Amino acid sequence: NKIVLAYSGGLDTSAIIPWLKENYNCEVVAFAADVGQGDEELEGLHEKALASGASECHIVDLKEEFVRDYIYPTLTTGAVYEGEYLLGTSMARPVIAKAQVEVARKVGADALSHGCTGKGNDQVRFESAFAALAPDLTVIAPWREWDMVSREDLLAYLAERDIPTTASATKIYSRDANAWHISHEGGELEDPWQEPSKQVWTMTVDPEDAPDTPERVTLTFNEGQLTHVNNEPLSPYQALVKLNTVAGAHGVGRIDIVENRLVGMKSRGCYETPGGTVLMKAYKALETMVLDKAALKYREQLGLEFAHVMYDGRWFTALNDALLAGAASFAQKVTGEIVVKLYKGQATVTQRRSPNSLYSEDFATFGADDVYDQKHAEGFIRLFSLSSRIDALKKQQ
Ligand code: ARG
Ligand code: SIN
Repeated sequence: NKIVLAYSGGLDTSAIIPWLKENYNCEVVAFAADVGQGDEELEGLHEKALASGASECHIVDLKEEFVRDYIYPTLTTGAVYEGEYLLGTSMARPVIAKAQVEVARKVGADALSHGCTGKGNDQVRFESAFAALAPDLTVIAPWREWDMVSREDLLAYLAERDIPTTASATKIYSRDANAWHISHEGGELEDPWQEPSKQVWTMTVDPEDAPDTPERVTLTFNEGQLTHVNNEPLSPYQALVKLNTVAGAHGVGRIDIVENRLVGMKSRGCYETPGGTVLMKAYKALETMVLDKAALKYREQLGLEFAHVMYDGRWFTALNDALLAGAASFAQKVTGEIVVKLYKGQATVTQRRSPNSLYSEDFATFGADDVYDQKHAEGFIRLFSLSSRIDALKKQQ
């Protein structure tokens, strides 16, 4: 037996390695995805996995693939979950699960395992991807099986087996980081009446401490793809890293929300998406220049639908493919430049231009024009409201 475990090097997955070996009498292959979570998390991971009892450790660089094939397509749908969440954790799950299945195939494994709890969304996302990509592989979710409940339990479990760990009994927050965002849950945040303390935030400066002078950043899009930041050509991942740095320094992209988990309970989370917030604002601003009313309305509906598809872990489905194809069609028009002003936690679009712009100063002007005959509006309104008129006349009789 061989199990491929989605391994982070944290306390939970460190305990899962020996637990799987003892309870499933198997070899454990550790798998870690680099989705841009930062070097601290990945440093020494290989040695750590082997020290915990893994037979091999595969670290796969998914940074460009994640941004290019998951984040950008999602951006073109305009997806925002429950009005605020930019889906940072949700978007990373399918790409991680896919790479994990590939490792499982390579090493000839017969099972997959992960460290998600039985209370969250992530278990659903991982296992739905596994179901779609590797229906023949067994899935093992230790958190739903073992009876350990606390960090103390996990530490004691490792100590009994002489497995070294640098984890401490008191870790305040549960965090999940990637190139797009970092999430913070748990600790004092479990009380929705408790304001998050300063130490919660890691990716952005406190807007109160942000520079007193605003900074402007220019984003260039070609058919829905971000190609340049401040006129510098950058790969999708590099562009995001750059935007994170610039926006993070101005405290942009913090949210503090209570959300509905797929499994039914509400949870409170603080999320930071500095570059993503700027990117999303810029993208939507450009869409407003190039999509007409009916197209934009439909794109908004599509985004709402897609937010749930993404959040609920339904990436590898027919609905996902259809929605992405629709979004890609709208995205063909999204070419142009947007300037976003960053200041004390705010990202505000201040300039926009596009070769596909439908905006016409000639038509829109409040001054004199010679393209629009105001008399035409009368007949339009007459017919647009005709059914109301007929209804009202009937009531008057
Ligand atoms: N609540 C967010 C979501 O469902 C963030 C989850 C963070 N996951 C984690 N394993 N810490 O997408
Ligand atoms: C977890 O329970 O593993 C993290 C939270 C979530 O998945 O929603």
